[in-house]
Order: sequence, then C-alpha cells, then structure tokens
Amino acid sequence: MRRYHVTTFGCQMNAHDSERIKGMLEELGLGEAPALEDADLLVFNTCTIREKAESRLAAHMGLAKALKDADPERRLAVGGCFAEVQREHLFEQFPQVDFAFGPGSIAELGEWLRAERSGARGSFGIGEERRFSAELPARRERSFQAWVQISIGCNSVCSYCIVPTVRGKQMSRSAKEVVSEVERLAKEGVREITLLGQNVNSYGRDLPAAERKTFAELLRACDHVGGVERIRFTSPHPKDFRSDVIATMAECESVCEHAHLPAQSGSSRILKAMRRTYDRDRFLSLAAEMRERIPDLAITTDLIVGFPGESDEDFEQTLSLVEEAGFDGAYTFVYSPRYDTEAASLPGQVPEELKRERIERLIELVQKLAREKNRARIGSTEQVLVEGTSRTDETLLRGRTRRNTTVNFSGTAHAGDLVDVHIEDATSTTLRGAQVKPALA
Ligand code: 5AD
Ligand code: SF4
Repeated sequence: MRRYHVTTFGCQMNAHDSERIKGMLEELGLGEAPALEDADLLVFNTCTIREKAESRLAAHMGLAKALKDADPERRLAVGGCFAEVQREHLFEQFPQVDFAFGPGSIAELGEWLRAERSGARGSFGIGEERRFSAELPARRERSFQAWVQISIGCNSVCSYCIVPTVRGKQMSRSAKEVVSEVERLAKEGVREITLLGQNVNSYGRDLPAAERKTFAELLRACDHVGGVERIRFTSPHPKDFRSDVIATMAECESVCEHAHLPAQSGSSRILKAMRRTYDRDRFLSLAAEMRERIPDLAITTDLIVGFPGESDEDFEQTLSLVEEAGFDGAYTFVYSPRYDTEAASLPGQVPEELKRERIERLIELVQKLAREKNRARIGSTEQVLVEGTSRTDETLLRGRTRRNTTVNFSGTAHAGDLVDVHIEDATSTTLRGAQVKPALA
C-alpha cells in the first residue's frame, strides 16, 4: 500500500482542509505514514497569511528533496493558500515539487493521483471555482471533536490581509446543510464542534433571500440539535458582532463562554488604516457589552505590531487596549507585508528591530494579564473535555475548559470524557488541578 504524510502550516481552516486531504487519500486506498520519512506521498498544506508560514515551508522543502533523492518513487505535493498564491512560481522556487493544488480543489486529488501514475506533473485546481471541503470524507484528529465549515472566503478589505485574494469572496453554506452535518456528528458521538468561517458574523449574507439565516439564527439552530455539549466558533469580526449573537451566546447552553475577538490594534488611527471599520471605543464597548451579558466570558484576541505608520503613541494605545479590554489571551503578530495588499505599499514601514522590541513588550504584558486571569480561577471547579495526556508530564491528563483554557490534571478519565476538575495552580498558558468526580458517561 502507498503511504502518505500530511504536514500542515496555517490556520484552523487549513487544519480542517488537511483532515479532508487525509480523508480523500484514504478513500483512494492510501494509508497514513507516522513520519515524513515513511511516506511515499509527501503533502504540505501551507498557509500564506504571514511570512513565517512560508519560511517554515522553505525549511521543510530541503528535507523533502533529500527524501525524494533517496527514493525517486516518492512524490511531493504542495497544497493550500501558498500554492494558490504562488501558482507556477512555486515550481521555480522548489523544483522538487511534483504537483500543487489550491484550497478549493481537494476533491480532485484522486484524478491527479491517477494522472501522476502516467507521468503527469504540474498544478491543478488553482484559481478555479471553489468548493466546500465540508462535503468530502474526513479523517478527524479526535473522534469527539469536529470542525464544521459554515463559509469560505471573506468580503472584508483589511489592508494587511491576503486572505480575500486567496480564498475569494464569501460563500456561505446553507443552514440546512450545516445543521444536518451537526446532526450527523451528534449521532456519531461528537461532543464539541467549532463552526468555522473567515468572518462567521457575516454568515448568510450571500445566500438567496429564501434560505438566508443570520449567524445568530444558525448558532441557535445548531444548539437546538442537542447531543453536542459544546459549540464554539471562529473567527468573528468585531464589526459584525451584533447583539443578537451576544444574546444567543448567553442563552444557548451548549455555546461556550469564549469569544475570539481579533482587535488587531488599540489605535483608532491604525485601525482606520487597516480598514477594520471599528475604532478603539467601539471595540471596547463591544467587549464590555459581551462581558456584561455573558457571565464568565473569556475574550481572546489577535494583535499586530509594526503596521506601516505605527508610532510609539499608537503602540502604547495597543498596550493600553490590552489592559482595558482585560484579554484572557492573545495571539501576537509582527506585521509582515503580503503580496498585492494595500498595506504593503504604504509609507512608514516600521524597521524590523523596532517591531521586535514592540512585540516583546506586548507579549510580556499579554502573559502577565493571562497569568492573573488564570490565577483567578484557582479554587474553582471547571468542566473539562479531556483530550489526552499532558504534553510535558505523561502522568497527567490534558483537556480544555469551556473558556478554552488548557488544563493539566491528575485523574482517571479518558480522552473524550467530560469531567469536573478542581483548579489548584496556574501559569499564563495553563491551569493545573485534580479531577473531582468520576467522568460523566
Ligand atoms: N501580518 C501580520 N499578521 C497578520 N495577520 C493577518 N495578516 C497579517 C499580516 N500581513 C494576523 C491577524 C489575523 C491573524 C489570523 O493573522 O492578526 O487576525
Ligand atoms: Fe488560513 Fe489565511 Fe493562512 Fe490560508 S492564508 S491558511 S486562510 S490563515
């Protein structure tokens, strides 16, 4: 049997696509190889949102070439957003690549594999009509957790972002299809689903009027299915986060007390240049409204430092936003110019050294706040969905709370169980505790 190995760089959307790539390859009769070295087909599913993903790919291409040299029967494929953006340049940069495919053409993998047997090379499905990978077979990482794609593409015009160019305009799946997928997953015993879209809050606006549903309505319908204990969603855009979604989060029991709300900057001037269409005050009042209406809510965010024209004063505003919003956690990024984006040609590009200095200060503050937030949980009992054993200590179990914090704990539960854990200690990234009751069946 031929064996494949998929390496994923990128966002959750990309990780979700990788599950479909694996599902397709298995349906075509290939088996998964535990490591790159053991595989006949090496697939890299790549991101292009920031420069870092590309340098990671470049670093792996050397190894892939060595493996191909060692066994000329090996094939190397590059898929995902990077392949979509680079198109034919990909083969100039990495001649060892046999084929490239865009994120919308996972379904055609089978055709390519058949053609490859007769010696075909090149790219396929790049720049073509996009399809939901949701309809393809999937090989899920964990049987009790699943992603459900609700839309692809994005209609925003954030000036730093390459996503709209790569993934195209927003295309929503019909609510009927989404709900029936949730029903199927519930029957299979899935306990946690994450609704996925580039901007979940603008879900449905592109659907024909007769079948149009808002994101709040979709969220309610998914909650209504029953049997799935936890519903999450990512990512929302603050500009479209309306009161109806907040009310739904507050009222629907299965919807978790966590919102990932990307702020990007705390300076209204920079937010304007980013074309985020909200300002600092609007963001803070949204966060305050959410906290007021959803008890015990965790808010996490994305922040970019070093956007073109960002002054010391603008950066200080980002630091003060972090404190005022009281984020429970944040992903922090150094701005990187992306091909054909508006921001890449703006004047006032910030020197690398200053970007580094700023991100270090920002990370320090984010970690300090996250530690305080996590320490405030000491003494409480949290419901945890067990995911496996701790990454650093095999004698401990690991799982996540409804607020999406990782917990390492002592106990007797198994992956997929929901258990109560008494929290005894905390760092900026994890909680630590002990299981208090036997697992709920
Ligand atoms: N440079 C740095 N960070 C970026 N992001 C998106 N584009 C860029 C860029 N050009 C960040 C944003 C977004 C997250 C997924 O990646 O913070 O929310
Ligand atoms: Fe995801 Fe965007 Fe990266 Fe594509 S470019 S993998 S959509 S973050």
